[in-house]
Amino acid sequence: MAVVLTIAQQKGGAGKTTLAAHLGAVFAATRRVALLDIDPQKSLARWFALRVGAKAACALDLADVSGWRLGGELARLGRSVDLIIIDSPPQIATDARVAMRAADLVLVPIQPSPPDLWAAEGTLALAAAEGRVARLVFNRAPAASRLRQAMTEEIAERGLGLLTQSLGSRSAFASAFARGLGVTEAAPRSRAALELRALADEIIGVVT
Ligand SMILES: Nc1ncnc2c1ncn2[C@@H]1O[C@H](COP(=O)(O)OP(=O)(O)O)[C@@H](O)[C@H]1O
Ligand SMILES: [Mg+2]
Repeated sequence: MAVVLTIAQQKGGAGKTTLAAHLGAVFAATRRVALLDIDPQKSLARWFALRVGAKAACALDLADVSGWRLGGELARLGRSVDLIIIDSPPQIATDARVAMRAADLVLVPIQPSPPDLWAAEGTLALAAAEGRVARLVFNRAPAASRLRQAMTEEIAERGLGLLTQSLGSRSAFASAFARGLGVTEAAPRSRAALELRALADEIIGVVT
């Protein structure tokens, strides 16, 4: 059965779709990957459409399902790929619950600042209620700052899991995304690609 990675966070603009796309692209180099876009905004599906035109080197699959077909589609996909990455909408509706329940790891992007952590609380509580492993990941984070340090300490004190690797605020993520590519494909030697690969490695360490 495939490993299921669900990316969730109730705050819009936190980086869910960015993570889903770039992680999908980097994992596709070594694994059979399917993306699932259950956000009605369909940003990941639009990135995927660009990708088809961009003739990206690595094959990736996108399953565009929601609603009552979601559970069945997850089970079907799980038999034919190694990894499923689900991009979820900001609101926790039925689909998001199904995606959460199916997850081997729930990845929750936040900027290292209190409102982002507060916005993540609902998602973290739901993951805990479903008995799922969840990890926060700092996105658009400065390499070091007093606030980042304070947030790291607060997260540890509250017993919430935080991945060590973070992503900085880097235009390479947005410009690769705009071309339907992952940053590891569009700018493989960039800082952004370096961070992304390290994050992918850390995620694999959590799910295996
Ligand atoms: N690490 C980053 N560096 C630069 N821009 C980023 C980064 N993460 C996200 N963005 C930008 O922020 C915006 C919101 O990100 P997105 O992934 O769409 O968030 P969400 O899916 O959580 O709503 C997008 O324009 C995206 O390009
Ligand atoms: Mg999104």
